[in-house]
Amino acid sequence: GAPIEVDLTPITEGQIINVFWRGKLIFVRRLTQKEIGEMKAVQAAQMIDPAPFYARVKEGHDQWLVAYGNCTHLGCVPIANQGGHPGWGCPCHGSLFDAVGRVTRGPAPINLPIPPYAFQGDAKVRIG
Ligand code: FES
Repeated sequence: GAPIEVDLTPITEGQIINVFWRGKLIFVRRLTQKEIGEMKAVQAAQMIDPAPFYARVKEGHDQWLVAYGNCTHLGCVPIANQGGHPGWGCPCHGSLFDAVGRVTRGPAPINLPIPPYAFQGDAKVRIG
């Protein structure tokens, strides 16, 4: 599939939009400053699928997560910010993901994967 370009300017802090690339759901999330601080502070080595903050977002673009939007267990679509949980919860079997898509509770075995993408300036991202 051809790359897609996503205009980031309408996305407000804390907002998540859904886009599709190659028929796959992708979340584009604009983190709040509070979420950035919390996500950087996580002891990544102790996680189910250890990944430091900068394995999840690009340096210089700390506010932006771009990740596939299907649960890595059996593919359901996790729901954002349920019950005050600042990430995603999967409605099918209860997996939890943090605000940068790292799994914090199974059965999902791995983090939400990151598709290939690059920033085009600060206001646009190209996926693919
Ligand atoms: Fe998400 Fe099973 S599909 S926990």
